[in-house]
Amino acid sequence: MAAPRPLYDAIGAGYTAGRREDPRIAAAIRAALGGAGSVANVGAGTGSYEPRDLHVVAVEPSAVMRGQRPRDRVPAVRGAAEALPLDDDAVDVALAVHSDHHWRDRHAGLRELRRVARDRVVLVNVDPGTHLRFWLTREYLPGLLDLVPAWLREPGAWAAELEAALGGPLEIRPIPVPHDCADGFYGAYWRRPAAYLDPAVRDAISVFHLLPGDQVAEAVARLAADLEDGSWAARHADLLAAEAHDVGLRMVIAGG
Ligand SMILES: C[S@@+](CC[C@H](N)C(=O)[O-])C[C@H]1O[C@@H](n2cnc3c(N)ncnc32)[C@H](O)[C@@H]1O
Repeated sequence: MAAPRPLYDAIGAGYTAGRREDPRIAAAIRAALGGAGSVANVGAGTGSYEPRDLHVVAVEPSAVMRGQRPRDRVPAVRGAAEALPLDDDAVDVALAVHSDHHWRDRHAGLRELRRVARDRVVLVNVDPGTHLRFWLTREYLPGLLDLVPAWLREPGAWAAELEAALGGPLEIRPIPVPHDCADGFYGAYWRRPAAYLDPAVRDAISVFHLLPGDQVAEAVARLAADLEDGSWAARHADLLAAEAHDVGLRMVIAGG
């Protein structure tokens, strides 16, 4: 049977219009890489958050994403997290940013990160147990929870699974998202709600491709109405005064 087409071959064409590395998040990731000399970036996409001063191996299943990598990034090797095309202990650090929620077998992919990394694994993603912290999910798109297995949404379940797959102890740090975050991921526009009304912004965020179209249309229409009549601003005056916000984004460091 032919291998299924990678998801990002279908949804990745508009990625770089909305997604680029945010320098503050990039600095936090670079600091977590420690004294590494080599890094495998798994689910490397278009090259965001790849350190320019280290030897990088980029692994990415989608040709559409590999094809959008800028010339100043190393070419990406075709491959998937579940079977990395690398030897045991091939690199100092295995890195995965905003990727593991897409892996077909997440546990196998995490084990692979551990296998190829001599020193440590650094993983950046949202803890699914925190999804309801973010107003967009809580108030407009609760259907997003259906995209995550119920057990993984239990408090502590995400960290426990990471520890089981990567080996402990783990360090898990919140990454507060700046109000003007340059990387347009799902939670990035927490203080710029009108951005979610823009189809080009939504196009660069997988959630909006994976949820049923009628759910997205209903949420967007309701958000537009709440922005228009001021009820969103009245409910979120605290956010409008904040510089950074915890939308559940976490840096996980295992080993090292
Ligand atoms: C949201 S993008 C993140 C890309 C990049 N790391 C970044 O931060 O911009 C998710 C990436 O994970 C990749 N991906 C999906 N399934 C994968 C798998 N099984 N193994 C490795 N990467 C995968 C997608 O093709 C896509 O490039």
